[in-house]
Amino acid sequence: MVNNTHTHDVLIIGSGAAGMTLALKLKHKYKIALLAKGIAREGSTYYAQGGVAAVLSEYDSIESHIEDTITAGAGLCHKDVVKFTVERSESTINWLIDLGVKFDKEVQPDGSEEYHLTKEGGHSHRRVIHAADATGRAISLTLNKRIQEGGNISIFERYVAVDLITADKLGQSGNRCVGVYVLNLTTGRVELFRAKYVVIATGGASKVYLYTSNPDTASGDGIAMAWRAGCRIANMEFNQFHPTCLYHPEAKTFLITEALRGEGAKLILPDGEQFMKRFDERGELAPRDIVAHAIDHEMKRLGCECVYLDISHKPASFIRSHFPTIHEKCLEFGIDITSEPIPIVPAAHYTCGGVVTDTNGLTDIPGLYTVGESSFTGLHGANRMASNSLLECMVFGTSAAEHIMSQPDPAEIAYDIPPWDESQVTNSDEDVVISHNWNELRHFMWDYVGIVRTDKRLQRARRRIRLLQQEVTEYYSYYRISNDLLELRNLIVVADLIVRSAIRRKESRGLHFTLDYPHLLPEAVDTILEPSNYNG
Ligand code: FAD
Ligand code: SIN
Repeated sequence: MVNNTHTHDVLIIGSGAAGMTLALKLKHKYKIALLAKGIAREGSTYYAQGGVAAVLSEYDSIESHIEDTITAGAGLCHKDVVKFTVERSESTINWLIDLGVKFDKEVQPDGSEEYHLTKEGGHSHRRVIHAADATGRAISLTLNKRIQEGGNISIFERYVAVDLITADKLGQSGNRCVGVYVLNLTTGRVELFRAKYVVIATGGASKVYLYTSNPDTASGDGIAMAWRAGCRIANMEFNQFHPTCLYHPEAKTFLITEALRGEGAKLILPDGEQFMKRFDERGELAPRDIVAHAIDHEMKRLGCECVYLDISHKPASFIRSHFPTIHEKCLEFGIDITSEPIPIVPAAHYTCGGVVTDTNGLTDIPGLYTVGESSFTGLHGANRMASNSLLECMVFGTSAAEHIMSQPDPAEIAYDIPPWDESQVTNSDEDVVISHNWNELRHFMWDYVGIVRTDKRLQRARRRIRLLQQEVTEYYSYYRISNDLLELRNLIVVADLIVRSAIRRKESRGLHFTLDYPHLLPEAVDTILEPSNYNG
């Protein structure tokens, strides 16, 4: 039986940029619960390096940012959503500056100071505002500090959302999300959180791949929970691989920001050839899908374990001041980036698909919102442009908050929500099932559903997913839940959604490249999966 029930106006699952923005915008009006799987700052936001894309320079324009986003998105971005987001970029940055985020400035020839804007792949202007190469840390710590300062926000760390509770699932009329079952990792018990509004802000799902730039929180929990609850999920075949992650046997995957290429770093083969121009005239600053694909192609052609990123031609003082985190991290592994190239490989980085929402973050279920990387808003199309993600988190965190505030107060729930029932389960005596299946899933997703796909590989992955689904469903019904089991269960759902979406797309577009259909179809169509049409 549960040992605790909590009641809030708004329950936000996730304390990254998206969840914290929403909490801050609502904190004076509502009683809010903010859940985090681990400590509050742990999530992709904290590790973001390059910065936030925004139209801030007099030489740039809203139209140009919109056009670049749509070009990078390979024809699949929703233009109205791109416009909605980009038009809010300047006010979003001003809000962050007002909260206290210290973005880098540079001294102008006349002695005045202006914010330094860097460049990344796909951007035709310098428009990425940043705090050295640790922009996410600056944003995350500032938002967190403001959250601690008062208002009505309770932070629940080490609380893992298990499943959404909807009126439909309870057999009640008038479907609405009314709460969430949450595993308290400290006690090992599942608690009931009731809320008038529930917001999924759980980040992406790149942990479904063996190699990823993402922290351990990125297991697609929100996407899987929304799917189980009855929401549509879109464009999951578009998983972005970041072209440049540090390759070192002792390094857990560490990102080398695209801003290095923005500041002139070159991609070279082991023999020193600068190869990107063979693939795209934009060279190192082509959109990410093209660069990752080119690296993958060259690594397979040459049978080499990595290629190299070289910025050593720039002055050492410039490198140390612009990229202090990367400089230090590489030194830990014996690589001095001021004098030698960095060994790099692509790794899974960003989930372009997610829970279908409108521009208010509202999903198919009344009372349920999704913001940030777990959402599908239509902004990114078939390939997200660099540094548009943090922007999306804060723009949609804000619009969702405004929508919640514009709603009439929902009526109190007139029925009981049953507590979590543990009467039929016991403690597992075979945790190896979880660890084995974890490894198997992430290996075959990397091998069969990676940068280059084929029908045969996708079908192979699909067969294996079916077996894992059976085993894990069985395990879930007999044994007490743990964080590892929940993540595995969710990653299997995510893998299934990715593979099904990839099988449906009979073309190569953006991040989805298949040898069986190497061309682009004339019409760009989203892949939208509906739980009601799901046949197992
Ligand atoms: P996250 O920041 O990932 O936060 C997710 C939160 O959800 C965490 O608090 C986690 O604990 C919680 N959570 C997850 N599941 C559960 C659960 N079941 N129960 C309770 N809580 C849960 N984007 C840019 O725009 N610019 C960049 O420079 C940039 N650099 C990046 C560098 C790296 C290394 C990485 C990994 C990503 C980068 N990105 C960048 C992408 C961007 O950081 C993310 O897309 C964005 O931060 C996602 O924010 P979020 O709030 O949606 O989720
Ligand atoms: C990076 O700094 O290269 C990551 C930027 C992003 O993912 O948007």
